[in-house]
Amino acid sequence: MTHARAVSLADPAEYARGVPYGEFARLRAEDPVAWVAEVDLVRHGADGARTHRGTGYWAVTRHEAVLAASRDPAVFSSAERGAFLADPRTREDLERNRRLLINMDAPRHTRIRRAVSGAFTPRAVARLHDMVRGHAAAVVARAVAARDVDVVTDLAAELPLLVLADLLGMPREDRKLLFDWSNNLVGFDDPRYGDGRIDTYRRTFVEALRYAAELIARRRRDPGDDLVSRMVAAQAGGEGPTDAELGQLWLLLVIAGNETTRHLISGAVSALLDDPAERDRLVADPGLVPTAVEEFLRWVTPVMQFRRTATRDTVLDGRRIGAGDKVVLYYASANRDASVFADPDRLDLGRRDNPHLAFGIGPHFCLGAHLARMEAAEMLRALLPHLPGLRRTGPDERMRSNFMNAITRLPARFGADGGLG
Ligand code: HEM
Repeated sequence: MTHARAVSLADPAEYARGVPYGEFARLRAEDPVAWVAEVDLVRHGADGARTHRGTGYWAVTRHEAVLAASRDPAVFSSAERGAFLADPRTREDLERNRRLLINMDAPRHTRIRRAVSGAFTPRAVARLHDMVRGHAAAVVARAVAARDVDVVTDLAAELPLLVLADLLGMPREDRKLLFDWSNNLVGFDDPRYGDGRIDTYRRTFVEALRYAAELIARRRRDPGDDLVSRMVAAQAGGEGPTDAELGQLWLLLVIAGNETTRHLISGAVSALLDDPAERDRLVADPGLVPTAVEEFLRWVTPVMQFRRTATRDTVLDGRRIGAGDKVVLYYASANRDASVFADPDRLDLGRRDNPHLAFGIGPHFCLGAHLARMEAAEMLRALLPHLPGLRRTGPDERMRSNFMNAITRLPARFGADGGLG
């Protein structure tokens, strides 16, 4: 008799091998709100290395239940213990996290979100189209000229960094700082980035906020057409967030708008390299780009989960949940739920009915969704003529993270049969 290897959804190392879709399918069928014991994680602090183990949590794996919990923020709170799986260690950590929009509940959440949401409406994002398209074309042209590339750093990371630098009114040269900061914060459990070092995490937070404060002061003196300048102008009119709130919003945009879009693009390229039939279909019919972007969002699900905390005893998908319990919403599983998606483990770039939850749902629905879609679409359009000639030159490497579905290295070469290549 063979036994399946035990899989821990909480263990960052698990995802370095790949997303455990088999385990998610089993849970959806057998135990859709399953109790997950957490694993020991090493944390390096001022007092040396200590292992730390979270409280354990309910893993919500079916589409309908992820949707229901996301739409019920009074019961499934983002502010209570934050939206990240790792428990805040101290009261101070919790308070600091709560300054980020993503870790707020109404009414504070509604007020701060309103201050920034105008910049992310479809109409506002449409104004960024030429800028995004120009950056995508330039990034692809540079990569094709280099021929030997790492798809992650040379293509996937570059576009969101350039777009964010312009959007946030930063000098483009400073995008390397954005790259390092978000790697340190998101790659907290990966030895190549944060390595569980609390000092690195806190230092990065402080450094990035100091940069934001300087940027806000600079834009107040010398305004431009960027988001920070516009929010500073709104403050002068008696509206808008305080400087501290603005700094926190800025930091959230740096993290949320950077890694996520990077992993969507690298995951899409990796999927196209694995599936030449779907690649050829897309190359033959560029009109498929919009449905392809939605399918890549479903397929990759760059943010695999966000966390909530139950504010009272409740029942979710037939399971009793106690007040104070940690509840983790697995978008990565919901997006492969066969009761919602026909043939969910097949990449179908023309998929019509695709209500994926890659951007979450409910009051915290991703503010950057239109922008991320536009970046992915323009990157695909710029890459299309070169895709047939693109080949892997080495294995992918993946991030050790239970949060992001992240490829960290994808060596490849643009070939002579790649159109202009
Ligand atoms: C493919 C790319 C992206 C993915 C998969 C993604 C995913 C998500 C998800 C799942 C949430 C929901 C959080 C929750 O319910 O707790 C979220 C929220 C958010 N996202 Fe994105 N995101 C992406 C790109 C972006 C971009 C480009 C930006 C901005 C430039 C952005 C800014 C935000 C912000 C500010 C929030 C918090 C909204 C709130 O709490 O009200 N995201 N994102």
